[in-house]
Order: sequence, then structure tokens, then C-alpha cells
Amino acid sequence: MAMKEPVLLKRVGKMTDPTSVEEYIKYGGFAALQKAVTMDREDILGELDTALLRGRGGAAYPLGRKWRHLYGSTDTPKYIVCNADEGEPGTFKDKLLLEKDPLSIIEGMLIAGYVFGSNDGYIYIRGEYRHIQAVFHQAVSNALAAGYLGDTIMGIDGFDFHLHIVSGGGAYVCGENSALLNSVEGKTGRPRVKPPHLADVGLYRKPTLVNNVESFACVPVVINMGGEAFLQLGTKDGGGTKLICLSGHIKNRGIYEIQLGTPLDEILCSEEYGGGTSTGRPIKFCHFGGQSGPIGTSGQIRGCLYDYGDFWSHKLSVGSGAIVVMDDSVSVVDYITSVMEFFVHESCGKCTPCRLGTTRLLELLRNFQHHKGRPGDIERLEKMLEHITYLSACGLGQSVSVSVNSALAGYRDEFEACIS
Ligand SMILES: Cc1cc2nc3c(=O)[nH]c(=O)nc-3n(C[C@H](O)[C@H](O)[C@H](O)COP(=O)(O)O)c2cc1C
Ligand code: SF4
Repeated sequence: MAMKEPVLLKRVGKMTDPTSVEEYIKYGGFAALQKAVTMDREDILGELDTALLRGRGGAAYPLGRKWRHLYGSTDTPKYIVCNADEGEPGTFKDKLLLEKDPLSIIEGMLIAGYVFGSNDGYIYIRGEYRHIQAVFHQAVSNALAAGYLGDTIMGIDGFDFHLHIVSGGGAYVCGENSALLNSVEGKTGRPRVKPPHLADVGLYRKPTLVNNVESFACVPVVINMGGEAFLQLGTKDGGGTKLICLSGHIKNRGIYEIQLGTPLDEILCSEEYGGGTSTGRPIKFCHFGGQSGPIGTSGQIRGCLYDYGDFWSHKLSVGSGAIVVMDDSVSVVDYITSVMEFFVHESCGKCTPCRLGTTRLLELLRNFQHHKGRPGDIERLEKMLEHITYLSACGLGQSVSVSVNSALAGYRDEFEACIS
């Protein structure tokens, strides 16, 4: 099921200057915005619903549904925020769009601005992406000069949209949408307690849309080709193409655009994509969607389609699009211990179950790692994971259990072998 033509990355590598409005237009840029401003706002929302574009930041929430929620909010002003924090380990796909096709993200945000009558948008770019921030600044000033940002965009009275670039605070948790908004406001980047939903009480306590970079870049694609055609690129559980990041023990590491529904075997083993392991050894497991995603054993992933629905039925998730491949030389206990080190480091400390629980989990896992596990430790691990999941305030604490539980489900014998 090889991709005939890239849809999202169609301009990447073709434009000599990705910040140039002229080049962007030459390769089809701003056609969707031109079309959108002639459409009824309800029809734009209808196309996005039909497209079943799931948010590409990790949670896979349908973008159309999120936009409708904000559309229904009567409070003003409404803010548009792009999440370009990209802190999830193994994920590096937003970086490509930010650097090589920044105007496509701006176009997606402009369409949102038009739909919601918003005058201000913010893009929160990962602090470590210094060079990319400079590229993005250039793209914004070029768009301003060409009349695609600022006041009276494309000569349309009342279509004013100002885009503000904010540099990320350098913490993984700042990618969580409410922590991100706090950070944009100049506060410590810690998650807020929800509800209220950000579409009701978001940035500066006003209705706010937060979407991922790739999600915004997909919006012009949907408007150009129509929701039905976009849906057809994927499956009934999620339309379109997806950027995936292959890393770890895989021969052809990198970013690929694939159609949702592509067989996972093809993604991992065909020369067009992963090309098999870099070591020549068999794949032992893959870690999907970043540290907060599940691990899939080689048996579990065999015959699986890279698709939201097929993944859910295999107890996997697409998440951000990261696929970290590990060969059979890797101890799953070692791997999971390093994942837990990450969570201990990144827990913001606001809730006790997450702050202390991750540290206790790491201690237990280190015991396993050093073959000093005690009878009952696996059950203790499971109980603590349950508590952390249900007692944590944000997605970080709530998803700590996902990778560990999936590792236990697939490789319980390896944990048992570490009990003395
Ligand atoms: C700890 C944590 C970190 C996150 N990091 C990111 C991130 O770096 N980029 C991102 O787009 N979403 C991230 N998310 C998800 C966002 O909270 C949010 O769901 C997303 O930006 C919504 O956009 P989407 O609907 O277009 O996916 C993170 C969530 C959590 C809990
Ligand atoms: S769950 Fe963890 S990261 Fe999230 S708010 Fe609580 S302490 Fe912070």
C-alpha cells in the first residue's frame, strides 16, 4: 500500500525557500484559505467532521468535534494556539513541517482564525528548536508583508489575525495543553485542573483552541480535497495520512508520510520505509506514540494495520506517530526502567501520586533490573500504577501505567525472572 503522492509533505524539499510566500503559492499554498473564505463557516466544520481528522498530537481526538465545541462558545475573544512543543521522546515530525513548510501551519491557523473570528493566534515552539524558531519568524514576517497575516487579510474587512511566537519552557509537561497555556501566559508551565474545558476557559480564561502542528497542517489539505476524499485516504476510524517517526534499531530511521491503514509489517520491513532492523536481529518489540504509549510485542504487531481502530483492537495506540523499534538484544526490564527515569524527571510535582509514585515505581523497577525483585513486587507495581493513573491530575501521570502495563502483559516472565 505504497503512497502514490505525498499529501501533507507535497511541498517539502521542492521549495528552495520554505518561508517564501511566492514559492508556497506556486506549490498550491493559500488555495485552501482562498476557498475557505468563500465558504459558510458551518460548511468548513462539516468538511472537517466528514474528514474524521484525528488530532495528531497524541490523544487522537477528532478535530472537527473540538472545533465545534469552540464554535459553540459564546464568550469572546477566542484564541487559536498551535502546540509545537514536540517533547515526546521518539517524536520529531512537527519539526519537519515547522522548518520545511511553515506556511502550511500558518494557513491552517488562519482558517481556524477565520472560522472563529479570532484575531490572535499563538504558536508555542519547543525551546530547543532555536534554528527552527528563526525559520518560523521569517515565515511570519513574509506572510505579514504579503498580507496573509495582520489586518484586513486578503483585503477582507474584519479578517484580522496576528500570530505570536512563543519559545517553549523546556519541560515535557509544557506540551500538555493547559500547562502550555499557563506557560504562554508567563506562568509556571504546570497543568490546570480540568474541567473547565479549554474551549470554554483557556488562554487568559477565554475560549481557546489548541491543536498540534500536524493537525493544523492537515486543515488546508482537507479544505482543498474535501472531507470525503481525505477520509478515503485513511480508514473509517481516521482519515488522511499520518507522519510517523521511525527510530531505534531500524535501518531507515526517519520521518515518513503513510496512509492510515498501511500494514505495520510494510512500515517496519519494506525498503520504502523502515527496511527491517539495523542490526539484522529480529524485532522484539515496538514502542508506539512516545513514552506514554504502549509497547507492542512482535507477535502482537504481526498483521496489524497502522490505523487508529486496528491499533485500539490490538491494545496499541498511534499517539504522536513515534515508533521506537527494539531488537531481541534488549531487555524489556531495562527499557521500561529508562522510561520511568524519564517520567520521574518530567513529573511537574503538582500531584503527590505522580511526584512520589513515579519515584517509588523507579525504585521497584531498579530492583528488578538488578535481579533483586521480591515476591509480590509485580503485584505492588500493578497496584501503584493503578493508583497513579486514577489519582493524577494530568495526562502525564495518567499515562505512566500504559508502557509498564503493556510490558508486563507481553513480557511478565522477564519480570518474574528478576525476582530472587
Ligand atoms: C505530558 C504531555 C505532553 C504532551 N506533549 C505534546 C506535544 O509536545 N505536542 C502536542 O501536540 N501535544 C502534546 N500533548 C497533547 C496535548 O495536551 C493536546 O492533546 C494536543 O496538543 C491537542 O492537539 P491535537 O488535538 O491536534 O492533537 C501532550 C500531552 C501530555 C499529557
Ligand atoms: S500528573 Fe504529574 S505532571 Fe501532571 S500535574 Fe500531576 S504531578 Fe504534574
